[in-house]
Amino acid sequence: MASEDHSHGGSVFANVTQATEDPILGVTVAYNKDPSPMKLNLGVGAYRTEEGNPLVLNVVRRAEQLLVNDPSRVKEYLPITGLADFNKLSAKLIFGSDSPAIQENRVATVQCLSGTGSLRVGGEFLARHYHERTIYIPQPTWGNHTKVFTLAGLSVKTYRYYDPATRGLNLEGLLADLSAAPSGAIVLLHACAHNPTGVDPTLEQWEQIRLLMRSKGLLPFFDSAYQGFASGNLDADAQSVRMFVADGSECLTAQSYAKNMGLYGERVGALSIVCGSADVAVRVESQLKLVIRPMYSNPPIHGASIVATILKDREMYHEWTIELKAMADRIINMREQLFDALRAKGTPGDWSHIIKQIGMFTFTGLTSEQVTFMTTEYHIYMTSDGRISMAGLSSQKVPHLADAIHAAVTQH
Ligand SMILES: Cc1ncc(COP(=O)(O)O)c(C=O)c1O
Repeated sequence: MASEDHSHGGSVFANVTQATEDPILGVTVAYNKDPSPMKLNLGVGAYRTEEGNPLVLNVVRRAEQLLVNDPSRVKEYLPITGLADFNKLSAKLIFGSDSPAIQENRVATVQCLSGTGSLRVGGEFLARHYHERTIYIPQPTWGNHTKVFTLAGLSVKTYRYYDPATRGLNLEGLLADLSAAPSGAIVLLHACAHNPTGVDPTLEQWEQIRLLMRSKGLLPFFDSAYQGFASGNLDADAQSVRMFVADGSECLTAQSYAKNMGLYGERVGALSIVCGSADVAVRVESQLKLVIRPMYSNPPIHGASIVATILKDREMYHEWTIELKAMADRIINMREQLFDALRAKGTPGDWSHIIKQIGMFTFTGLTSEQVTFMTTEYHIYMTSDGRISMAGLSSQKVPHLADAIHAAVTQH
């Protein structure tokens, strides 16, 4: 029988429909198609220099040179759990070098494919081995969270987080929603620099959240994608996580080195599960291997070797902290410049949230209609929720952005 009988349009996949673009990565696709010389991409969360170029940190280049020049390095497979040094150093970085949980060997850490992979492996582990399958994520949150956790086998619900009226934290709503969650439920928390809102709880508010969660036995799952990138200080940005670990109870943490070491495409991250005892941690690690092995077998070697080289050398670590602070400071400076430019123009509205919010993104409060207007008239690209990446902005482009925002809020 002719093969055409089995297909339409000459393909057995003829019935496959066109998928919609990822809402965040789709912004870059649209940007790339725009021929205008004025175009500006504030959609994607990747750091750019003042000149608008991607940045490879000097310390990363140095670490790579060391690796390349070391003839003893080979390309053998890593263990399923990844590079052992990398795992130990990553746990120290997020929990602190004096963390009792590390000293008591209660932490199981596995190298994963950046932050996303760490979340996914953690999600699948919980779906298989934890008694409560519901995870509460903030409303709003990073667009991929719902998909990652749903596909991991968890059931996703939301808790209130952001108050559009104050453009700040809705602490009352957050506490009410977590109080109403079933005992034992998992709660996804952004360790710092909440994406997309740029709104973080204060340390006092974190303490309230911690007390409530511990009293209800809710299990914290921290997403740490921006350690050091928010304040410029690695310890300050890990405070929330360390508060929860200090009380001796359990939690999960997904770490990413995409932003803070600029290793986006190297896909370097770690999942750590802080357990109640050392023997539980050993068993948890053995089960994490069973999650990872059929998924991608074992993680890539290059990026983790770069991170380990930097973290274990005192002088390179120091250089990293300086370069990291410079990136954070440039972002904070962009916030100030944009705020000043809008104030100078007399743009209607209170724009103080631009300088109050923290991290890579400003949640501007612009409507999707205003965003569309700015894209069509000013060639400025961002997600339709009005989130702009401050890391994609430069002094030179601030006036253009301020003009566009001014026009959008006065005309729409
Ligand atoms: C909140 C949050 N979590 C996780 C990630 C995952 O990033 P990656 O997988 O590149 O480390 C991101 C990236 O934008 C993020 O903003």
